[in-house]
This record gives sequence, C-alpha cells and structure tokens, in this order.
Amino acid sequence: MGLPGSLAMLVALLALSLLLWLPGLMAQPANPALGLDALLQDYAYRAFVRPRTGVPYEAVVPANLTGIKVSAMRLRTGSLRRKGVPMYNEFMIPPGVVAAPYVERLVFVYQNLGNWSSTYYPLQGYTHLTPVLGLLAYDASNLSATNLPELDVRAYGDPIRIKFLNVALNPDGPAPKCVSFDLHGLPSFSNASDNVCSTVVQGHFSIVVESIAPSPAPVSPIPPTPAAPRAKKKNKSKVWIVVGSVLGGSLLLVLLLFLILWVHKLKQRKKMQQMERAAEVGEALKMTPVGETKAPAATVTRTQPTLENEYVP
Ligand SMILES: *[C@@H]1O[C@H](CO)[C@@H](O)[C@H](O)[C@H]1NC(C)=O
Ligand SMILES: *[C@@H]1O[C@H](CO)[C@@H](O)[C@H](O)[C@H]1NC(C)=O
Ligand SMILES: *[C@@H]1O[C@H](CO)[C@@H](O)[C@H](O)[C@H]1NC(C)=O
Ligand SMILES: *[C@@H]1O[C@H](CO)[C@@H](O)[C@H](O)[C@H]1NC(C)=O
Repeated sequence: MGLPGSLAMLVALLALSLLLWLPGLMAQPANPALGLDALLQDYAYRAFVRPRTGVPYEAVVPANLTGIKVSAMRLRTGSLRRKGVPMYNEFMIPPGVVAAPYVERLVFVYQNLGNWSSTYYPLQGYTHLTPVLGLLAYDASNLSATNLPELDVRAYGDPIRIKFLNVALNPDGPAPKCVSFDLHGLPSFSNASDNVCSTVVQGHFSIVVESIAPSPAPVSPIPPTPAAPRAKKKNKSKVWIVVGSVLGGSLLLVLLLFLILWVHKLKQRKKMQQMERAAEVGEALKMTPVGETKAPAATVTRTQPTLENEYVP
C-alpha cells in the first residue's frame, strides 16, 4: 500500500464514519412542550395593549390550540419580592419570590392546558386528574419580543402554592400525587394535601393518580394514550444514537490503528533506507574530521577492522 493509497483509504473511512454518525446526531429528540411554551409566550404578550401592572390579561390562542387558556400579568420585580401576588388564578405567590437575572419588570405567563394536558405532558402509568397548569416568568422590557428565555424564578421564603379546583377524585383508588414538570419537562412527584401542591420554582403542575392496569376505564376524560408513540420515538432515536456512537467509535478505532500502522511502516522504511544508504556509502561518510587528522567517528565495531585496514596507513 503506497502513501497515496493509504491517504485515500483514510479519507474514505472518515467519510464513511461521518455518514454513520450524522443520523444519530440529528435525531436529537425535541420536547414539543418547549415549543408550546414559546408559542404561548408570544400569544400571551399580544394580550398586552397599554397593560396595567398587576392585572391579568386573557390571551387569544390560535384555533389549532382551542381548549388552552393563557393569560399574562406584568409586575415590578421589587413589588413581587415584597408583596407577592396573593392570587393569580390557581397560583398563590408569597413574598420573597426573586427573578434572576435582574429585570425591572417581569411577565408571569399563566397556562391552563385543558384537554391538551396529556398530549403535551404525558406520564406513563399515571392519569391527570386536573389540567396541567403552567406559570412561567419572562422579561417584560420588550412586549413584542418572541422566543424569550424564561427567567430563573425562585421562592426564597414560603413556597408558591397551587390550589387545584374541580379535581376528579376517586376515593377507592390510590392516593393522588402532585407532579411538577421543570422547564425541560422532567417530572417530580410530591404528596398532595387538600388538592394543594407547592413549588419553589416555576414550571408546569398537575395532580395525577397511578393508573390501574387491569381496568382500562379512564378516571378522567383525558386518557394518557399519547405517551406511547412519543416514548417509542424517543427510544428509537436513542437506539440510533447508541448505534451511531458504537459504529463511529469502532470506525475511529480502525482508523487510528491504520494510522499507527502506517506511521510505523513509514518509520521502518526510513530506517531501512538509511541502513541501505549507510551500507552503500556509509563508511566514507562517517569519516569526520577530528582535530587536524581524519579519524573514524563511527563506533560500529563490526566494521572497524576493515576500516583500519583500508584507511590507516
Ligand atoms: C398552531 O398555529 C400557529 C399559528 O397559526 C402555528 O404557529 C403553530 O405552529 C401551530 N401549533 C400547532 C401545535 O399546531
Ligand atoms: C380540545 O377541545 C377542543 C374543543 O373544545 C378541540 O378543538 C381540540 O381538538 C381538543 N384537543 C384535543 C387534544 O383533543
Ligand atoms: C422588541 O422585539 C422585537 C421582536 O423581536 C424587535 O423587532 C424589536 O426591535 C425589539 N424592540 C426593542 C426596543 O428592543
Ligand atoms: C407521602 O405520603 C406517603 C404515604 O401517605 C408517605 O409514606 C411519604 O413519606 C410522604 N412523602 C412526603 C415527601 O411527604
């Protein structure tokens, strides 16, 4: 294998491994609930026309999301920290709630996902007893802004409490639980007491109950069926990532091996050439001037006798 040949092989291997990598990298699952947050922020901000501070404004959602309720309330962060908001729909916001990074005013976007709750927040093995409610904070400095990042809101005193209304209770079933989804959609559970849940950060909240497997009769009118296809899709892309990583990794390994072998061969060939050249003209070249007289500088003991015979008078 000549030098151009091995180079071509390297390039081909690189291209192949890239091709195998790409599908795995591109199949990153996107959480549809995050896109929904951005869309609802946009529609919530459109409800503001010369808004007054501390007053909730109902937003109009697009027709394809009928059933979702959204409102927006603008607040001074100083007033939020000192006084809180006693009641914003189901949310009771106590004093001591602080937003970071610092902004002068923020907007609390309230979401009630209604019959879309289990579409956007499916929970395998659980049934939503209430709609999923969201409370998210954004910078209020530009009311035409879209794709705003959420502020980091935290309750440093008492927690924020959510009083759910119209919980579809079934007294014989397992105890209902509070579930809160963080901004990435990851759920965490806590005990519900009197249909009240509490949180120290913003997010999405609901009361759920474990689904009883043998009786498929839904406890609430919203069965959590959409969970399955989404989970499957996620698993599929995960499998792709794993397969891609393994294939890419082993290809890289092979590539590395080839590189090492090639370098090794190159070194060996160089050595051989040097040795050959040394054998051909070596002895003459190794005569270097030492002081005023010529002397053999080579330390090759095997050839020394001949050297002496030939050159030393
Ligand atoms: C609903 O419609 C809006 C605007 O008409 C569009 O931007 C959005 O992507 C749609 N959302 C869904 C979930 O179909
Ligand atoms: C929710 O209800 C509305 C009508 O009230 C309907 O148009 C919409 O398709 C429903 N959404 C889902 C996910 O079933
Ligand atoms: C507010 O946001 C809109 C949309 O992103 C942008 O076009 C506009 O320039 C912004 N205004 C200011 C004052 O930053
Ligand atoms: C929730 O309730 C269960 C049983 O009612 C109890 O065992 C558990 O410790 C409680 N968890 C918390 C965090 O209060």
